[in-house]
Amino acid sequence: MAERKRLVAGNWKMNGLRADALALARNVVARARQPHRCELLVCPPATLLAVVGEALAGSDVALGGQDCHAEPKGAFTGCISAEMLKDAGCSHAIVGHSERRHTCGETDADVRAKTLAGWRAGLIAIVCVGEIRAEREGGRAMSVVEAQIAGSLPDGATSQNLIVAYEPVWAIGTGLTPTMADIAEMHAAIRARVPLDARILYGGSVNPKNAGEILALEDVDGALVGGASLKADDFWAIAQACE
Ligand code: PGA
Repeated sequence: MAERKRLVAGNWKMNGLRADALALARNVVARARQPHRCELLVCPPATLLAVVGEALAGSDVALGGQDCHAEPKGAFTGCISAEMLKDAGCSHAIVGHSERRHTCGETDADVRAKTLAGWRAGLIAIVCVGEIRAEREGGRAMSVVEAQIAGSLPDGATSQNLIVAYEPVWAIGTGLTPTMADIAEMHAAIRARVPLDARILYGGSVNPKNAGEILALEDVDGALVGGASLKADDFWAIAQACE
């Protein structure tokens, strides 16, 4: 089996103005000059792609978008296409983040269409799945995530064009995390449903303290990091936990 190189991805969400984003990106680049065994990716808001992209130039830190529209162009006010992300220097696009599934009403079919759009533009799609608290407490986490995987992943997924992020919604931004056994169980179940060697990230309150334990789990191939990715020290500490 080919080695699955770990990926630590920062999802900056709707945070950052040009000055602080530039400082953060430069800080990440400076740290990434040190040896590291994982791939690094930052996903800033669309307004910052250009400035962050310039700061990342010449480094091995990749640039990604946080979402994309399914269509390549057209009358879709406020939306951004996968082609636009690619043109802005992105190699990856997050799709189906729970903040879009739940606050923008995105369905599995929408996520599937966005994944295809990402591939059409030559991007790697990071497809997010995860249960809400009531589903976890009701013992339905596994069936919910399996249904999201079945509905959100188009045919044609490969380990080169797809990364899955398991992000329990109740763990995002709350400081709560599932037990290691629960993460391991879910990742193993996802592993059985994605192409061989596709990477599966864990996301939801990953921080420098818990990263080592989470990243040591067999089917965890990296982390999708929200809050802690806004501090270069924390983001780098999580990356180092891949060692
Ligand atoms: P968090 O966010 O690390 O702040 O919990 C993770 C995410 O939403 O991707």
